[in-house]
Amino acid sequence: MRNTGQRVATDSQENGSKSEKGCVLICQHTSCKANGSADVLAAFEAAGDTDFEIKAAECQGQCSSGPTVRILPEETWYCRVKPNDVPVIVEQNLKGGIRVEEKLNPRIHMRFSF
Ligand code: FES
Repeated sequence: MRNTGQRVATDSQENGSKSEKGCVLICQHTSCKANGSADVLAAFEAAGDTDFEIKAAECQGQCSSGPTVRILPEETWYCRVKPNDVPVIVEQNLKGGIRVEEKLNPRIHMRFSF
């Protein structure tokens, strides 16, 4: 199980194979677009060089909590992303390999406390 807030290892890092470029999908479908996902996409594109390809995406099935940002292959899902969230996602997650807990989609990254 991959925990939130901890270092994210890609499959290629885990098995020691040659790493492939990751991908950041920024939903540009109706709901996300109405909540500013075009500006989120522009912020990622302006953020500078990373090992991740930045791509506009179709609906990711999380419409009520958009703009949705999904990072592959690690399967990190962020919700309600605003342009001013992008620098921390880039520095902490894309460059540092550590998820930004406060922006994780709770439907996908469930947290339990007992
Ligand atoms: S419209 Fe973006 S997740 Fe559905």
